[in-house]
Amino acid sequence: MSLLKVTNLTKKFGKFTALNGVNLELNAGEVLGFIGPNGAGKSTTIRVLLGILKATGGEVKLFNKDAWQDAVDIHKRVAYVPGDVNLWPNLTGGEVIDLFIKLNGTANKAKREELIEKFDLDPSKKCRTYSKGNRQKVALVAAFSSDADLFILDEPTSGLDPLMEKVFQECVMEVKRQGKSVLLSSHILSEVEKLCDRVSIIRQGKIIESGTLNELRHLTRTQMLVGTSMPITGLLDMQGIHEVQESEHGMSFQVDTMQIDAVIRHISQFGIIRLESAPPTLEDLFMRHYEGAKDTGGVR
Ligand SMILES: Nc1ncnc2c1ncn2[C@@H]1O[C@H](COP(=O)(O)OP(=O)(O)O)[C@@H](O)[C@H]1O
Ligand SMILES: [Mg+2]
Repeated sequence: MSLLKVTNLTKKFGKFTALNGVNLELNAGEVLGFIGPNGAGKSTTIRVLLGILKATGGEVKLFNKDAWQDAVDIHKRVAYVPGDVNLWPNLTGGEVIDLFIKLNGTANKAKREELIEKFDLDPSKKCRTYSKGNRQKVALVAAFSSDADLFILDEPTSGLDPLMEKVFQECVMEVKRQGKSVLLSSHILSEVEKLCDRVSIIRQGKIIESGTLNELRHLTRTQMLVGTSMPITGLLDMQGIHEVQESEHGMSFQVDTMQIDAVIRHISQFGIIRLESAPPTLEDLFMRHYEGAKDTGGVR
């Protein structure tokens, strides 16, 4: 069942077209990664979903209701975490969490306490004294203490340290296990890929790819560094090899993720003594996507 469906969404700010025919779909029980570089239109899309901004064109439905007209109804079932949380400076973190929970209408005190502990948040401090990371935690605790059916999280981990990012990931997996749905935006693919069932990639106000990561895998390249006891020959003649460079540690290159198996088999003949690989990044994916149109050269 489709919980969220965006069809041909357009949003203009004056003459500037921020969103140009965006399509998105999120099914019940699914985590959708909404990925794109800064300025691509992620937050604008999310603000339209929340009824904060009015669409210029297209159709935006949550729970089969209209995002703009039925915003009040929709909000009862949605928890939202913005990327940059601005809180009431004179309230304490705990007061703000309670306020959010009251607005949402569903309170779960035990969950609230558990999350405050997990996120290592001191709820007695005034919000004005919180760092960006702590403000983020306040919004995350409030969201995950709620009984929402849909979690809309706009770059929620910016400002969190790696330990807290792990706590965040556990929270997402827990609500997913409960059959709830999550829209998770990020400008870093690797940050969300372990959580997402599917991803939609936005660039300059347009969705350029949608699918499971496996489906998108053919677009990605893996960065490798290989040291061998004998000099490697024949690598340049292989398919799917790019950006080959020799260094004192061995050969570094990029390989189309689909070709990794063939390449590893080939180089293993030369006695591998060192092997490093970095996962595909969003930048690689874009590079691959635009390769046909334009040679982007060695962008890394
Ligand atoms: N209120 C606004 N008025 C004019 N332009 C805006 C407004 N909000 C966003 N934009 C522009 O729309 C584009 C998309 O922004 P945004 O949705 O915030 O991107 P993202 O969240 O992906 O970083 C950017 O070029 C941004 O400058
Ligand atoms: Mg944004």
